[in-house]
Amino acid sequence: MRTVAILSLAASAFAATHVVEVGESGLHFEPQTVPADEGDTVIFKFYPQHDVAQAAFNAPCVGSNGGFYSGPFTGTDNGKKKFVYNVTSTSPIWFYCTTGKHCQQGMVGAINAPTSGNTIEAFAEAAKNTTTERPSAMSGGELEDDQQIASLTASGGGSASTNSPTASGSSAPSGSSTPSGTSASTTEASSSTPTGSSASPSSSGVADAISAPVTGVLAAVLGFAAWLL
Ligand SMILES: *[C@@H]1O[C@H](CO)[C@@H](O)[C@H](O)[C@H]1NC(C)=O
Ligand SMILES: *[C@@H]1O[C@H](CO)[C@@H](O)[C@H](O)[C@H]1NC(C)=O
Repeated sequence: MRTVAILSLAASAFAATHVVEVGESGLHFEPQTVPADEGDTVIFKFYPQHDVAQAAFNAPCVGSNGGFYSGPFTGTDNGKKKFVYNVTSTSPIWFYCTTGKHCQQGMVGAINAPTSGNTIEAFAEAAKNTTTERPSAMSGGELEDDQQIASLTASGGGSASTNSPTASGSSAPSGSSTPSGTSASTTEASSSTPTGSSASPSSSGVADAISAPVTGVLAAVLGFAAWLL
């Protein structure tokens, strides 16, 4: 409880980091839509043969002029590097996977998709009857390895957002993609925090009130970093 409250407080005060799984379970971006503020960071994490490119709403499976592209899966060092995109406006940003007919088959997503009019459903529907065009080169973001991303998350003022597995109980990463030792750490760390502090007889109430949330945030950040690996 404390950890969740502190995390959402932190998310409103600092830029948030959003992680999008690209093709972890079939032809999907997960989450498919990302609500993001200016200054937030979106990290695209690739599974075999998938990539991500920005498109215009009216041309769903075609790279847009000046838009971002991660490069093909092989260009992301076979998924070892993730594509980091800085959100610079709250206008909708549409994207798709450039591999094969994935875009036509629904592998599309958006940052700040409207809930009426140009919706993600309308974008996916429009994508069905198009021909995919793959941009010629990586652009509009940075390819970073886990170490670079960990330092970005730890020192850049980023905090886990509500659509990260750390804060949202329902979207926990599937066990197969995460070493079991690290995936358990977030839950253990945050659940053991209140027990540990309340069991300590010498701490004053004030010290408890300060140390418990700090430990919780630290545990959440570490858990988030571990999950990225
Ligand atoms: C798909 O596109 C073709 C060529 O642009 C068009 O003739 C056809 O009517 C479209 N089909 C649908 C279902 O929109
Ligand atoms: C995103 O913003 C950070 C911090 O300002 C900067 O260091 C980084 O180079 C930017 N990344 C891209 C892809 O523009």
